[in-house]
Amino acid sequence: MTPSDGYLLNNRQDEAGERFGAFASLFDPVTFRHLEGVGVGPGRRCWEVGAGGTSVVSWLARQVGPAGQVVATDIDTSRLAAVARPPVEVRVHDVGADEPPGDGFDLVHARLVLVHVPDRERALRSMVSALRPGGMLLIEDADPALQPLICPDEHGPEQRLANRLRQGFRKLLADRGADLSYGRKLPRLLREAGLHDVAADAYFPVTSPACTALESATVRQIRGRLVAAGLATDEDIDRHLANVEAGGMDLATAPMISAWGRKG
Ligand SMILES: C[S@@+](CC[C@H](N)C(=O)[O-])C[C@H]1O[C@@H](n2cnc3c(N)ncnc32)[C@H](O)[C@@H]1O
Repeated sequence: MTPSDGYLLNNRQDEAGERFGAFASLFDPVTFRHLEGVGVGPGRRCWEVGAGGTSVVSWLARQVGPAGQVVATDIDTSRLAAVARPPVEVRVHDVGADEPPGDGFDLVHARLVLVHVPDRERALRSMVSALRPGGMLLIEDADPALQPLICPDEHGPEQRLANRLRQGFRKLLADRGADLSYGRKLPRLLREAGLHDVAADAYFPVTSPACTALESATVRQIRGRLVAAGLATDEDIDRHLANVEAGGMDLATAPMISAWGRKG
């Protein structure tokens, strides 16, 4: 298995665009609040790791302005072409295997990335090494084991099916080397990496139209793998997608834990 094989959800499939749109709706307000908190402004140099779609990169580009720089990296940059112009530089890069794409960054940020990277220890070291002294690291990652249910209010057969399929999704992720308890470890890992003033918080939506869109796109994207692994039948998946489409189920997400610290 190569490091990039660790990622289950291919960015080139149509559903990836739907998923990135849902992440933006669900998590951008939280991410932008944290980025503002750690400090991003004109002239800053930022590395956006595992950028995926364009919303965070575009926001960072507006904050740093023409005098700044945003290096946006991903193992698959196919969704980033629209923002690949100064101050944004887009590079294909595996954060678990490649050298950092520069050094002396004021800010390094990754959202919902390291949980998927088999060598996340190396990835974290690389991100810290790319900071200037005084630079800020912000890592936001899921902790699906902390809140494993897509339907926390499991009150009927629709919700039970949804939670069973979610369990299958988690198994596929874990089999690919994802650490499903990663989010909670971030404060300790940041301190162990030598960062100062480490703090963290968590956020998850309990229901939202974007959760519905995310669930539909995710299940359509992994349906073949769920069936091949014997974790669900095509009938299960059709029934679940129809339930999701019908509305009325309160679909949540795993908590996203945001942790930040300063390089001494
Ligand atoms: C769940 S998506 C999150 C995308 C984006 N950060 C967001 O929050 O909307 C995970 C992203 O990490 C990327 N990724 C997975 N493994 C990676 C690795 N080893 N190095 C760099 N990027 C990786 C994927 O290609 C994908 O774009």
